[in-house]
Amino acid sequence: MIDTHCHLFDSEYDNLDDILDKLNEEGIKCIVNGCDMLSNTDTINLSLKYPFIYASIGFHPSIVDNISEDYIEFIEENIDNVVAIGEIGLDYYWTKDNKEKQKEVFENQLKLAEKYNKPVIVHTRDSIADTYDILKKYNVKGVIHAFSGSLEMANKFIELGFKLGIGGVITFKNCKLRDVVKDIDIKNIVLETDSPYLSPEPVRGKVNTPLNLKYIAFYVANLKGITYDEVCSITTYNASNLFDL
Ligand code: NI
Repeated sequence: MIDTHCHLFDSEYDNLDDILDKLNEEGIKCIVNGCDMLSNTDTINLSLKYPFIYASIGFHPSIVDNISEDYIEFIEENIDNVVAIGEIGLDYYWTKDNKEKQKEVFENQLKLAEKYNKPVIVHTRDSIADTYDILKKYNVKGVIHAFSGSLEMANKFIELGFKLGIGGVITFKNCKLRDVVKDIDIKNIVLETDSPYLSPEPVRGKVNTPLNLKYIAFYVANLKGITYDEVCSITTYNASNLFDL
């Protein structure tokens, strides 16, 4: 299985080495997403050390007010060591005051993705319409991380060539996302944990790790009326293909 979105950093875990050993034993591959200069550097170092860890680097909308001036150069210098650009996007939940700056940083990174033919991992919160309008201007593919929109929006992103990242939220009671996942073809889904956040049931509230990916796969299998093994093999294929792993 492949966890397409997690944040495995020493700053988040006091037992990261143990988790990495278990991931290796269980054959789980992870795309570790950076959000700022420090975590981007960490994910590259981790991916160079562990063959089952892949790096995605990008500058998250929540840090644009303090972004390093050389963020474009940083991505370009490291582009050969990463499988994707992300976590990038728009987030109007925390603040709407810097919308223009968020859009500028997002678009600059999309231009790099286009230039270097890398997929993108997109964060969107309270900003789905703007995110769509921007993505459709670029010839990029990737994942809408923690997708939580309507079926109509799901189909619009799929038409652009995007996969939907499905994580722990799918296991929460009364979650509207279940109807969307039921209705879309599994070829458009990749699995993710967003560790250390958003732990799925039955470990909700605890610190999340990619070892919990199985719970998400199990829920998706139930929803779609297919086997757990089918979910694992199809979503693994989707992610390997997209990220060229
Ligand atoms: Ni994330």
